[in-house]
Amino acid sequence: MKQITIFDTTLRDGEQAPGCSMNSQEKLEVAKRLEKLGVDVIEAGFPISSPGDLESVKAIAEIIKDSSVAGLCRSLEKDIDAAREALAGAASPRIHIFLATSPIHMEYKLKMSRDQVLEQAVSAVRYAKKFCADVEFSAEDAFRSDPDFVCKVFGAAIEAGALTVNFPDTVGYAMSVEFGERIGYIKEHTPGIEKAALSVHCHNDLGLAVANSLAAIAAGADQAECTINGIGERAGNASLEEIVMALRVRRDFLKADTRIDTTQIYGASRLVSHVTGVKVPPNKAIVGENAFAHEAGIHQHGVMANRETYEIMTPESVGISKNQMVLGKHSGRHAFEDRLQLLGFSVDAETLEKTFSEFKVLADKKKVVNDRDIEALIMGAAAVPETWKLDHWAVNTGSALGASGTIRLQHKDGSFQKLVSLGDGPIDSIYKSINQIIGKEPELELYEIGAITGGSSSQGETMVKIAWDDRRYNGRGVSTDIIESSIKAYLAAINAMEWDIRGSPVKDNLS
Ligand code: KIV
Ligand code: ZN
Repeated sequence: MKQITIFDTTLRDGEQAPGCSMNSQEKLEVAKRLEKLGVDVIEAGFPISSPGDLESVKAIAEIIKDSSVAGLCRSLEKDIDAAREALAGAASPRIHIFLATSPIHMEYKLKMSRDQVLEQAVSAVRYAKKFCADVEFSAEDAFRSDPDFVCKVFGAAIEAGALTVNFPDTVGYAMSVEFGERIGYIKEHTPGIEKAALSVHCHNDLGLAVANSLAAIAAGADQAECTINGIGERAGNASLEEIVMALRVRRDFLKADTRIDTTQIYGASRLVSHVTGVKVPPNKAIVGENAFAHEAGIHQHGVMANRETYEIMTPESVGISKNQMVLGKHSGRHAFEDRLQLLGFSVDAETLEKTFSEFKVLADKKKVVNDRDIEALIMGAAAVPETWKLDHWAVNTGSALGASGTIRLQHKDGSFQKLVSLGDGPIDSIYKSINQIIGKEPELELYEIGAITGGSSSQGETMVKIAWDDRRYNGRGVSTDIIESSIKAYLAAINAMEWDIRGSPVKDNLS
C-alpha cells in the first residue's frame, strides 16, 4: 500500500488565518499532539515573519523527534537564513521555499518575468541545500499557472536539489476532476520527477480542498498538505482528519494510506479548537459533535441491529470514546489518570497533581464530571505563567441600577490590588476594574461564552481575544459560574500578553 506523506500546516497556514493565532506555548502543545498523531512533517511557522515565530519554530524543532519540522521561506536568502537558525536543533529539518508562478502573481505581486522566477527559485533551492538536505519547493498559485511553466520550474528545482515539489491551489479554484488531471500532467511532464515527491496543497474556497487533494492522490501525488479542522486562510485548508479518514476508509479505492494513528484525531481536533477558540461546526465530518450521532428512529434501529447499516467508520477509530462512565467526587486518582490516558493526554506528575485537585473541587460543585470538563482542566493547565492571579470578585447588577464590579488580584510579586468600577453590565464593569489594576486598556476583539456540555449543571466556557500594541492574545476560562469563567478568560489573555510580549502579529507585512 502506498504511504501518503502527511504534511501538517496548522501552525503556519492555519495559524496565519484571522482569529486562529496561538502563542508559542500553545503552538508547542499542538506540535506535540501532531507528533503523537503520527504526522510526517510539521510546518511549524514562517521564521522570518516575526521574532516570535522564529522562537516558536526553534522551540518546536528542539523537542519534536518523530516528525520532520519545516519552516516556510520566500525565495530569499534572508528568509532561508532565518529558517536555518530556527531549525538548527531539529532532528529532521525541512526548509520549505515558495515562489509564485501564475501570470497574475508574477505581474502584479512579484513584478518579475518567467525567467527571473525560474532563476530565483533555483538559486533559493541551491542556497537552502547548503544547509539542509530536505528542501521543498512550492509554486504558489500553481493551479492558475501555465502547466508547462510549472513543470519547467519544478524540473529546475529538482535539479537544484529539492526533494519535494508542491503544487498549491492557493485560491481554491480547481474542480476535482480537473485537479486530478493536472497532477497527472505534472507527473508526466516534469523532468526528474521520479527523484522527488509530488505534493499538493489545496484551499477550500469552493469547498473542494479535500476532494481535490484526494483526486490528486488518485492521480499519483505523494504528499498532502493539510490542517487540523481545516483551519486556514479564508475558507481554510484541506482538513487533515478528512483526508486521513478518507484514505483509511477507502484505501480499497485509493490504494493508499498514511501512518497516522487515527485514534488521536479527535483529541488533536479538540486541542486546536480549544487553543484557537475556533469552534468545530456540529456537522463537520469526522470531528463534529454530530458526526456519529444517530437521531432518526429508523437510523437508531438500524445501528442497534448492526452499526454498519449507517456507520462507515466507528467513533472509536477517530478517538471518540463511547465509554459513558462519568467521574464524580468519589472517583480516585487512578480513575482520573485512566481517563486522561483514554483522552490522549500524557501529563507530568506536577500537572497531574494540580489537575487532580482541581478535579476534586469541580466534582464537589458538579454531580458528574465528563470528558469535556476534564479536557478543559488539562488544557487550562497548559496556560502561560500567571502575572496576575484572581483572588476574589463580586458584582452587583440589575435592570435599574447598572452594574458595579469589584475585583482583587494578586500580582506575581505577592502584592494584592483591589478595585471597583461601574460599567454597562457585570462583565464590562469587572473588565474595567482589571484594566485599571494592570494599567493597560487592551482592545477586546472577541468575547464568546458557551456551555461545555448540555444541561443546567454544565460549566460555562468563555473565550476572549484581545489586541494590544498590534499583537493578539487569546484567553479561555472555565467555571461553574459564567462571570468567573469570563474573568478567568480575560486574565488568561492578559497573562499571555504580559508573558509573551511578542504575541502574534495582528498583521504581518510580508508579501
Ligand atoms: O497556499 C499557498 O500557496 C501556500 C504556499 C506558501 C505553500 O500556503
Ligand atoms: Zn496555503
